[in-house]
Amino acid sequence: MQRLFTTLRKDGVDPKLVQLIRTIVAASKDIAFRVRQGELAGVLGSTLDENIQGETQKALDVIANTLIKNLLLEEDVVRAIASEEEDSSIAANPTGEYLVAFDPLDGSSNIDINGQIGTIFTILPARDDVPADSELQFAQPGRNQVAAGYVLYGPSTILVLTTGGPTRAYTLDTTHGSFMLTTDALTIKPDTQEFAANMANTRFWGENFTRYIEDLLLGETGPRQKRFNMRWNAAMVGDVHRVLCRGGVFMYPSDSRDPKQPAKLRLLYEGNPMAMLVENAGGKAYTETTPILDIQPTSLHQRVPMLIGSANEVDACLSYLNT
Ligand code: F6P
Repeated sequence: MQRLFTTLRKDGVDPKLVQLIRTIVAASKDIAFRVRQGELAGVLGSTLDENIQGETQKALDVIANTLIKNLLLEEDVVRAIASEEEDSSIAANPTGEYLVAFDPLDGSSNIDINGQIGTIFTILPARDDVPADSELQFAQPGRNQVAAGYVLYGPSTILVLTTGGPTRAYTLDTTHGSFMLTTDALTIKPDTQEFAANMANTRFWGENFTRYIEDLLLGETGPRQKRFNMRWNAAMVGDVHRVLCRGGVFMYPSDSRDPKQPAKLRLLYEGNPMAMLVENAGGKAYTETTPILDIQPTSLHQRVPMLIGSANEVDACLSYLNT
């Protein structure tokens, strides 16, 4: 079995990018250790603060954010970072080659119930046409990403990573602390009978998306002529991992709960990295109209609808949305 850094070397990844991935991975091992210790490490529960998204921060959100942020800001190769938990981007080395954006702890509601949670990250090339401390550094479409990945803190700690080639999975061997290559190329089957959507939002969905879901629920007696099963983890990182491992479609469409915020998930550090991982595993990743990776961002914490996973099922959903 190959170590992560052997695979990256064999893949010909820029050594500076490898160094950056090493730093993110180091932070994730620290987080994984604390997650495993749970209550014993004093990492459960909420803080009294809210993040820029207006969400109450969990203790582990803050700990994970601080760990990743502090390690990245020490790296020469980092020009700037952006985090879900920070209001603005933060400049690092003005001559650094790369930008890193991350969601330090996705699926926060799962922290206190010992459920799946994860760290999502994306790496972009730094821009020389804007200052390091400008948020415009991050105003790049997801197609520019040079690496994207997540670390899933589940029964095992798994790193899923692409550096432009295949989407590979690595499992943390806790006996010696290395991530070992366990799946060389994750491949999403084009057809599926599994979907993930928060059905509690049904009454807020648009008419066409509702009709699509109604037809899935009709199973073999409806127009889709096959029985579907539903799974919902409350952590996108767990739901997308399921899709990458056994096919399926993860959907968080636009809804009318809050007119100021028609979509829930963030483009920069949720949509784009997941879209790159899914596309490089043969799946599709769309908003309700366009490939997620083609969106030109307009703000740091921009939100987008997401339909991602098995290619034919994403197409089926799009055909309902666009009629
Ligand atoms: O904020 C991100 C997130 O926690 C995702 O990981 C997850 O898919 C979603 O929010 C869960 O949202 P809901 O509140 O609809 O279950």
